[in-house]
Amino acid sequence: MAGEKNQLRPEELISRVVKAYQAFDREFEQLPGGSESLEAAEKQLQALRELRIRSLGKRSELATLKKLIGRVDPDRRREAGSNFQKLEQDVIQRIDDLERRLNAFVSQARVASERIDVTMPGSRPRPGHLHPITLMRERIEDIFVSLGYAVEDDREIETDFYNFDALNIPAGHPARDPQDTFYTTDGFALRSQTSTVQIHAMQRRGAPVRMIAPGRVFRRDTPDPTHNPMFFQVEGLCVDRGITMAHLKGTLAEFVHRLFGPETRTRFRPSYFPFTEPSAEVDYSCFNCGGEGCRICKWSGWIELGGSGMVHPNVLRAANVNPEEFTGFAFGLGIDRTCARIYQLDDIRLLFENDVRFLEQFR
Ligand code: FA5
Repeated sequence: MAGEKNQLRPEELISRVVKAYQAFDREFEQLPGGSESLEAAEKQLQALRELRIRSLGKRSELATLKKLIGRVDPDRRREAGSNFQKLEQDVIQRIDDLERRLNAFVSQARVASERIDVTMPGSRPRPGHLHPITLMRERIEDIFVSLGYAVEDDREIETDFYNFDALNIPAGHPARDPQDTFYTTDGFALRSQTSTVQIHAMQRRGAPVRMIAPGRVFRRDTPDPTHNPMFFQVEGLCVDRGITMAHLKGTLAEFVHRLFGPETRTRFRPSYFPFTEPSAEVDYSCFNCGGEGCRICKWSGWIELGGSGMVHPNVLRAANVNPEEFTGFAFGLGIDRTCARIYQLDDIRLLFENDVRFLEQFR
């Protein structure tokens, strides 16, 4: 009979099921290890999913054998079926158990890797702040802007004409020596004073003009507590009809009142600058002792602010301004030294050492 021909002996079925089970067992035991790291566990989960398809999926050996149970002699079919089921159950159980353990490990490892301990001290970003010289420059600018002055920003590399000749310092003039600077090979020089901006400003704007020009200047000075080869100055220039020395004195007196307090006095000492006539050094009474003498003013009661004077007619002419019609005053202050005085620094070189521990004091 056809039915009988097709019949399958239960031993044959079970032996094939056992072989399939053994094949699964070998593969299962060879799965990659998975509990050392999140990455390894995820890899093992993937391998396990593939093994489940291979061992229990529609095209697996077990699925084929399951279909053959119907061909076992009905008397022994129950026994064959139950043996088959036991082994199949075992495969399912082992895969499920391992999958559960791996899933638990993966979710725990994920939480651990993403956990933020809010009680840990944070790494605070260090906010930057302005350099003390910039703070000083801004205070000076604010005062002069409120007095109606424009702020000019000009070049640091100059020709001889702007650094010397136009400022009434012709070649061979002894005033070139203390202002000696750094030269390039093609006739340029780093400006040794911000007075160069007087000429540029008058050429650009004509007269009347009222401006200040803060900026970097360079001199062949040996560094010491009050000198640097690179430092900052602020130039001031006021040119108009009828400007006199009284305007100069009034302006600088007002400036020191606003910078150091209304009780601050100014003192003008006769001096010489080739580009001003008459010329004066300007001092202000010490903001610390009020003029009685202390460590800050070196016991003199006075602190030097800078140079000043009435713009020399030759300078007006060099900038195409008619000295018969216009007069003016100019002044030049050292920002670094003023800054050092205000912050009570013994040495202006500290300002350029870029030591963050020092600079952080001036937030
Ligand atoms: C001048 O440079 C003139 N141009 C100032 C001036 C302008 C006079 C307009 C008249 C009219 P003096 O060389 O004195 O002047 O320098 C001015 C200030 O710069 C000084 O008071 C000082 O505060 C500062 N200074 C000079 N040399 C140095 C240096 N090597 N390091 C730091 N500050 C300096």
